[in-house]
Amino acid sequence: MPRITINKIREMKQKGEKITMLTAYDYVTAKLIDEAGVPMILVGDSLGMVVLGYETTIPVTIEEMLHHTKAVVRGTSKSLIIGDMPFMTYHLSTEQALSNAARFIQEAGTQAIKLEGGVTVADKVKRIVDCGIPVMGHIGLTPQSINQIGGYKIQGKTPEVAARMLDDARALEQAGAFAVVLETVPAALATLITKKISIPTIGIGAGVGCDGQVQIINDIMGSYTGYIPKHAKQYAQLVGIMSNAISQYHEEVTAGKFPTDANSFPMDESILDTLKDK
Ligand code: KIV
Repeated sequence: MPRITINKIREMKQKGEKITMLTAYDYVTAKLIDEAGVPMILVGDSLGMVVLGYETTIPVTIEEMLHHTKAVVRGTSKSLIIGDMPFMTYHLSTEQALSNAARFIQEAGTQAIKLEGGVTVADKVKRIVDCGIPVMGHIGLTPQSINQIGGYKIQGKTPEVAARMLDDARALEQAGAFAVVLETVPAALATLITKKISIPTIGIGAGVGCDGQVQIINDIMGSYTGYIPKHAKQYAQLVGIMSNAISQYHEEVTAGKFPTDANSFPMDESILDTLKDK
């Protein structure tokens, strides 16, 4: 089966089919998501927080992103892979944005890129799209602007900010983005934006009225030890399972109970005999 294309994602909105997206940062997880038939995988710069241990996404570098994105691409054959452009890799100029977007496609093998912002990045989105690179937008709570926003709080609660968000969504649509992430936005506003634009909206903390949903894989797996946002539902509690396994292993090694014969490799006694007098 060939990889999902952006045309298929657009078509899903037109047909009213819900779109699933998950983040992934490594080969094995990406393979499982791909095999489950999830149409889009985002290699998010949330990598910085849930895998690399940074406090925010701001320190994440393009080299770190490309390293993990390559592993995700290697693990997949059907899902559409989107590489997330980290902080300051598309802000300086349109040419900087284009050449860094190209690195995700050429070096890491993604089919699209994502960047944060609306009206302010629309010229860059247009230039990247005009060069043949599909772009996903990201508005609402944009974690790369956390120092400006002043915290991970809900966006779009005043008429001015809500109107600006609609303008941002329209600017991305006009610039040629194939979809837009709406993060931490009141459900009713996300539903309204979804109805007013022709491209799919992918919500995270934006209610069920979006065309699709994205979650951070570690949040739904319960494999992150930091803060779990209200919008996330844990479908598994891997932290507990991993922690038990690590403790059991540690206890068994300490007590000389691991490895047993079942985990060891036998050797012919006659060969050992030849070494006795050496
Ligand atoms: O970095 C990321 O994982 C994201 C999602 C929250 C959409 O941008």
